Amino acid sequence: MAKKSVVKSDHVTSLKGARVHLRILERADIPTTTRWMNSEYISDIMGYLPTMSLEQQYEWYDRTKNDRSRYIFAICQNKDARHIGNVAIGNVDTLHRHGMFSIFLAGTADQAKGIGSEATMLVLGFAFEKLNLNKVYLRTSPRFTQAIHMYDRLGFVREGVMREHSYANGKYEDKIMYSMLRKEYDRAVEEKRG
Ligand SMILES: CC(C)(COP(=O)(O)OP(=O)(O)OC[C@H]1O[C@@H](n2cnc3c(N)ncnc32)[C@H](O)[C@@H]1OP(=O)(O)O)[C@@H](O)C(=O)NCCC(=O)NCCS
Repeated sequence: MAKKSVVKSDHVTSLKGARVHLRILERADIPTTTRWMNSEYISDIMGYLPTMSLEQQYEWYDRTKNDRSRYIFAICQNKDARHIGNVAIGNVDTLHRHGMFSIFLAGTADQAKGIGSEATMLVLGFAFEKLNLNKVYLRTSPRFTQAIHMYDRLGFVREGVMREHSYANGKYEDKIMYSMLRKEYDRAVEEKRG
């Protein structure tokens, strides 16, 4: 019988938004996630991690499912529970209280409709209010203009540029560093409440 495992449930089971909910990635999500991660489109976004077979992905999941330095959520539509992408806080450092954010919506048809913003705010709420982090950071490519627009609009602060930090599509490219501090998140939430 296939193992159903939901991890880290003492911290979180599900984060609910108006249009999507986030649930911790389950073992049953591995085939979908593997297909996405091994596609050229998502592979480029995630920084060309080594291609993994389904078996390797299951092995990775089983090995890391209780790892408290990484929280990977499935982004699911409220209307039909369809899993449309992943969002994560990784590299959680409990001494310095920071973590690294990443997100993708797998299909372009689901993008530019406000879902990424909603999922990002849900995860920021989790990172700051539940994990008690002080800072969430990320790095992105200048090519990902949609992501950059979203990070700017949500109040992430551009920290700087890591020059020729990665190799993609046959050339070195810069990475832009963004971050949000707990006090900036609190202020953004306060402003939204009016
Ligand atoms: C980045 C991503 C998660 C954002 O989610 P989303 O649901 O598309 O984002 P939203 O709709 O909430 O916001 C996107 C904004 O970009 C704008 N936008 C759309 N296409 C754009 C483009 N080509 N260039 C700049 N901005 C663009 C949208 O109008 C929207 O802005 P607005 O709300 O002010 O009108 C999603 O687009 C995605 O998965 N992209 C591919 C993966 C990726 O780039 N991941 C991030 C890597 S760091």
